[in-house]
Amino acid sequence: MREGRVLCFLTALVLVAAHGVNGEDPYRFLTWKVTYGDIYPLGVKQQGILINGQFPGPQIDAVTNDNLVINVFNYLREPFLVSWNGIQQRRNSWQDGVYGTNCPIRPGKNFTYIFQVKDQIGSYFYFPSFGFQKAAGGFGGIRIWSRPGIPVPFPSPAGDFTILAGDWFKTNQYILRRLLDSGRNLPFPDGLLINGRGWNGYTFTVDQGKTYRFRISNVGLTTSINFRIQGHSMKLVEVEGSHTLQNTYTSLDIHLGQSYSVLVTADQPVQDYYIVVSSRFTTRVLTTTAILHYSYSSKGVSGPVPIGPTTQIASSLSQARSIRWNLTASGPRPNPQGSYHYGLIKTSRTIMLANSAPYINGKQRYAVNSVSFVPPDTPLKLADYFQIPGVFSVGTISSFPTGGNAYLQTSVMGANFREYVEIVFQNWEDTVQSWHIDGYSFFVMG
Ligand SMILES: *[C@@H]1O[C@H](CO)[C@@H](O)[C@H](O)[C@H]1NC(C)=O
Ligand SMILES: *[C@@H]1O[C@H](CO)[C@@H](O)[C@H](O)[C@H]1NC(C)=O
Repeated sequence: MREGRVLCFLTALVLVAAHGVNGEDPYRFLTWKVTYGDIYPLGVKQQGILINGQFPGPQIDAVTNDNLVINVFNYLREPFLVSWNGIQQRRNSWQDGVYGTNCPIRPGKNFTYIFQVKDQIGSYFYFPSFGFQKAAGGFGGIRIWSRPGIPVPFPSPAGDFTILAGDWFKTNQYILRRLLDSGRNLPFPDGLLINGRGWNGYTFTVDQGKTYRFRISNVGLTTSINFRIQGHSMKLVEVEGSHTLQNTYTSLDIHLGQSYSVLVTADQPVQDYYIVVSSRFTTRVLTTTAILHYSYSSKGVSGPVPIGPTTQIASSLSQARSIRWNLTASGPRPNPQGSYHYGLIKTSRTIMLANSAPYINGKQRYAVNSVSFVPPDTPLKLADYFQIPGVFSVGTISSFPTGGNAYLQTSVMGANFREYVEIVFQNWEDTVQSWHIDGYSFFVMG
């Protein structure tokens, strides 16, 4: 009995302390106006989704543990929902901006997202997660800087550039959405963009002899990309908030949703160089370029655009395997990343997820462990919170591939709070599959 009381008292103390710390962390207030606007990324006029008049949207700059308060006004004629790719939402899933946990903002209304970038550093991005709106824009970069005094495992670069790259369709997002809804496949993309621009549409200016950080995210819809800079090598330093072993690469594969930071030293003769992005694992290869411009250069880009890998899979896998955590480097806190002893964690459960692309009722669908998800009329989070029966039941999807025929279901898999889960992904399709484990922290085991 007395032990019980002591425990309660301690818990209360910890809560008060945790609350106090939270209150001391700075708040950053942002106001976003989401509108339509004409954009011409591939030379033809399209209706884009702009944030504060910009395509891509404004960059969010934050420092570890900042509280972000983002008041989003939706001036579109359709609901709008924005997700924070790579940001952990700790017991905060209703701020995560995915359908089911967070309601879209109705046209003409506003909603304020409030979340803390607790114990995070690194490069991320945000994007609209609803109604295929990502095909019209609405995405932008997120940089979470280290707090002052926390060591960063490389010298401070002379500049910090964001590259949001990805495939792009000239077709408007309503038509793309209708194609999918009618059970057909997406067409092949029309091109690639770098920061919302086409061929040579964007220039990064550097001084000879200095070193710059480039944060590259693949913000596309369907295609893996390869990134390279003519005549320059890249030292990989960070992948989505983890400092890596600092390997040097001449080109990097970046799959959908991934964000990489590289250091590039302007160590070549003063002139302009191509920054190249090309599609990966596609038989027709899409390519686009931006310009690395040396200050005082009077010589424009020249020579052939450097070619990269195209359909080869083995080199991509071996490159992915070469990317490793530097366990002795600091992370968001001064202690080394390795001090968490992640390698010694005992997992309590294994989940095996196999993706498939079945036809159900004559329509192209996508399924996990034979279940193709159907969103319920009542959002899952509300059904859960208000305990509304009949919307979903836990365990409506198996934790392992069943091999059975695919079917439609509002599937929900249960997990225990604070559980460490091992997730194994299986892809028996002949296309690359990207998974987004939304709002969670996870690390690759093999
Ligand atoms: C909408 O914006 C107003 C004005 O800034 C603000 O007071 C209000 O809290 C916002 N509403 C929501 C739901 O975020
Ligand atoms: C890992 O980080 C530490 C601390 O910054 C650094 O001294 C070491 O060189 C790094 N190791 C590699 C292989 O990048």
